[in-house]
Parts: sequence; structure tokens; C-alpha cells
Amino acid sequence: MKYNIALLRGDGIGPEIVDSAVEVLKKIGEKYGHEFTFTPYLAGGCAIDATGVPLPDETVKGCKESDSVLLGAVGGPKWDTLAGNLRPERALLGVRSALGLYTNIRPAKLYQSLKAECPLRADIVEKGVDLVMIRELTGGIYFGERGRRKGENGEEAYDTECYSTMEIERIARAAFETAMKRERKSVISIDKANVLESSRLWREVVHKVAAEYPEVTCTDMLVDNAAMQLVKNPSQFDVVVTSNMFGDILSDESSQVTGSIGLLPSASLGDTKCGMYEPIHGSAPDIAGQNKANPIATILSAAMMLRYSFDLEDEARCIEKAVNDVLEAGYRTADILGTSKEAPLSCTEMTAKILEFIK
Ligand code: IPM
Ligand code: MG
Repeated sequence: MKYNIALLRGDGIGPEIVDSAVEVLKKIGEKYGHEFTFTPYLAGGCAIDATGVPLPDETVKGCKESDSVLLGAVGGPKWDTLAGNLRPERALLGVRSALGLYTNIRPAKLYQSLKAECPLRADIVEKGVDLVMIRELTGGIYFGERGRRKGENGEEAYDTECYSTMEIERIARAAFETAMKRERKSVISIDKANVLESSRLWREVVHKVAAEYPEVTCTDMLVDNAAMQLVKNPSQFDVVVTSNMFGDILSDESSQVTGSIGLLPSASLGDTKCGMYEPIHGSAPDIAGQNKANPIATILSAAMMLRYSFDLEDEARCIEKAVNDVLEAGYRTADILGTSKEAPLSCTEMTAKILEFIK
């Protein structure tokens, strides 16, 4: 089969880690007899430099015409002082919105071989961590009305959280469908229903959808408690479903529980097979261009692409197994070196190791 993949390398370490994932996809193509073609497009700070806008129309068009999108990361100090609608981050929000990618899947799994990297006490992580966060991605406060106005005490700024029944229903359904494929069949829905009206509607609608899935247990948790529970007892979480902003915050927290944000992939999906796949970490300008980045999160994002957009489950597992085996064998990039005295692998060295383990 032939698959056309749009590449949004972006800024900072984005180009390095996307190139690593491309190598891995090419290797998988050879091994299983698929043809992957890659077309690069500008997005983020590099697009601002080249065209004046973070998300050129050509990029949106290219993404829509592709079978799937692989993104590195966008942003950096160079563009931090630009106005909100011209910032590199607009590119990300823009693609998510233009492609209707409302479901963001962020698995966080603690590798046995990286238990020592987990900042939590050994007795807390003993039971393991294997959760998947389902974050609503095209609604809520990140897309709500915002602005500045003159108030009684001078200038004011506001952002608004608004969720429709339809938006909550479809993300809840994505969460319950995910739970049905997992052993524990548990969904924890995170909100702030003791204060926010949007959370009260969220809760109502989630429970309505839950009724269609009697095999799945559904529990509500307030977001402040959830932030605490994630470090107190992370193994209690199986599938988590939450709003755009809460999911943004809690997914970073859950990544740290697994040792490094450099390990966590994500998939953003809508109603079609065309999705966007990206590591959950950012552009890490401090190590950009130094060949130090951990490519694993992006490589695992490519595996998610094979699974969700192309239905290539064996191929996805092959990549995941190679990553697991490389870590088991003790190979480490700088971010997961822990107290080891060995020199860390560079981004390209780690990529080469993973290719070697795919064979
Ligand atoms: C993420 C990022 C983005 C988000 C930023 C860069 C706009 O933090 O993917 O988690 O908030 O969604
Ligand atoms: Mg984030």
C-alpha cells in the first residue's frame, strides 16, 4: 500500500526528531512492503520566518490532502514576543481545528526498565502505570472567545470556556470506545463541576454516554484532586477523559510519572482516518540542533499513526517492541540517563539502535 504523509518538522528539536521517525517508517516500509512518501510543509516559527504567518494556507491544504500528518514541535524564544494570533503555537491549534481533530490520545506507560527514572517512590510505582488520557482538542477555553476590554479598574483580559453537548458527547464516546478495548474497562472523567457550569454539562453528558457502555465503570474526579491522585496513586487510572485545558496540564504531569516527557507520543483524530501525530513535548530550544533530543516520543507517534490512520497493527507493535527492547538493553538518551555514568546516546544514535532492533 501507498501512504502519503505530510511532515511538519517545525522548530527547535522538531526537525531532528521528525527525521528519526521518518527513518523508522522507511525501515518499516521495507520490512512489510509499504510505500511511505513524505512531503514537508512549513508550520510554526519557521513558517513565520519564511512567510510571515505561522500556518500558511498551503500547509493546511497539504495536510488535508495527505493520508496523515507527522509533527515535531513548534515555538521558541525567538517568537515569544509576537501577538497571540501570530505565535507559532497558532499553527498547532490551526491544524487541529482545520482537520477537525477533536480527540487527542495520550498514552502514558511506565517501562519496567525505566522504573528508576520515575520521580515517585518505589512503593507507589510498584503497581505500574498504564493510562491513556483522552483530551478534547478543538473546543473549550483554547478556542473560546477571548479578548481585552476596559474595565472599572483599567484593562482586563478574558478567555471563555464553552462546551456544547455535541462536543462532550463525541469525546466521551472516544473514551468509552478506548476503554472497551482495554482490560480494566475504566473511565475517569475529570472536571471542575463544583465550580464551573461547563463542567456540570460535561458531567451530565458523560454519564449519558456511559449508560451506553454498561461494561465500563465511569467515575468522576475533580481536576484538583486528579492532579494529586496522579502522583499519589497513578496506577488507579486507566482511561482518563477531560477537557482541552485540563488535558493539556494533566498529560504533562502524567508524562513525568513515566520518567521523561521525551517518551510520550500522541495521536489527534477526528471523524476521518487522517490524523496528526506528534510527541507531547515541545521544541526544547535549549538543546536544538545539538543532536541530543530523545526521538522516542516521535517514533512512538509514528507507531500510533500506523495503528490509527493506516490500520497497520503489526507494524505499530513492531516499532513499540523495538523501543521497549532498546530500553531493556540499557540504551539511554540524556533525558533518561538517571544516575548512570555511561555517556548518553545522541538522537541519531538512539534512532540507529531502534532501527537495528527492528531488523
Ligand atoms: C500540547 C501543547 C500545545 C497545547 C501548545 C503548544 C499550543 O502544549 O500539545 O500539549 O496546549 O495543546
Ligand atoms: Mg501541552
